[in-house]
Amino acid sequence: MNLKDNVLAELIHNGNNYISGSQLAKKFNVSRTAIWKCIEQLKDEGCQIGAVTKRGYILLSIPDLFNLNYMETLLANCKTKWQVQFFDEIDSTNNYAKKLAYQGAPAGTVIVANKQTAGKGRLGKSFHSPSGGLYFSIILRPDLPLKDMMSVTACTAAAIHEALLQNGIPTKIKWVNDLFLNEKKVCGILSEGSFNAELLSMDYLVIGIGINIHPDPNLPDELKNIVTDIQTATGKVIRRCDLVAQILAQLEELLAGLAQHTYLPIYTENSCTLGHRVHVKASQGECDALAIGFTEDAGLIVRLSDGTQEIIRTGTAQIID
Ligand code: BTN
Repeated sequence: MNLKDNVLAELIHNGNNYISGSQLAKKFNVSRTAIWKCIEQLKDEGCQIGAVTKRGYILLSIPDLFNLNYMETLLANCKTKWQVQFFDEIDSTNNYAKKLAYQGAPAGTVIVANKQTAGKGRLGKSFHSPSGGLYFSIILRPDLPLKDMMSVTACTAAAIHEALLQNGIPTKIKWVNDLFLNEKKVCGILSEGSFNAELLSMDYLVIGIGINIHPDPNLPDELKNIVTDIQTATGKVIRRCDLVAQILAQLEELLAGLAQHTYLPIYTENSCTLGHRVHVKASQGECDALAIGFTEDAGLIVRLSDGTQEIIRTGTAQIID
């Protein structure tokens, strides 16, 4: 870390306490002028730093920039060793994470980007990923049979729901893994992985999460009635580092309870699919049906017009009414 990053880390660490220029200078074995220069640089980058004579400096706020020191501070209490990498621009965080996972990157590696040039959505669609959004992919290596993989994605949807709720943002979860605000999509999840045919399990799973944070002045016309962003829907301005850390903490907790399906009540109670008539497109074919429940591994249970029930494990369920 360079001196400026060290100074920022120290200010973060100090929380609501002042620290003097000479204390900082002593700690890093540099002159007070060098510290003053770092403080000015941090202010130029958008940090608000209070300065009081005889008391020193205090960090009042940091901007919505990706900052590894800040991130590490936020994740300090997690049991998982989350290893975060930031990119200002990347083709797709999922593609990069898959490459790293293939090369042996450990579970807990997280790739975060400010913008994607080739963001991917489910079912081969693209995911609009302009600058200022939140796009990240998490490498997991769950020791689970293939059939249980769907519950990891559903568990992630529940974790994102909980993290947003911590910020006073009550989303609804649309099966299988979209999050909605004011009946428009605000977050999508794409899980990809590599299957080990010998062990009949996954080598790795990459969970990609895209969240619209701010209004996008260049939002394509075809998305205008379908998607929203947190700021437009709630008036709230979220700092992306904070949200990533909150989601990772929630995910850690819910994944620890995966065998007991502890995510399921959150997933069920906040579903906007249950109780509605849906148009299902699945491997079994297409039909209209009533969404009546979820299996323990987040399969959608529907009732058909002849009264029979089916479990839908892959595909889409468009809400009709
Ligand atoms: C969907 O809604 O269809 C899923 C969207 C998933 C988008 C995220 S953004 C981060 C990660 N990288 C990608 O290329 N896609 C996922």
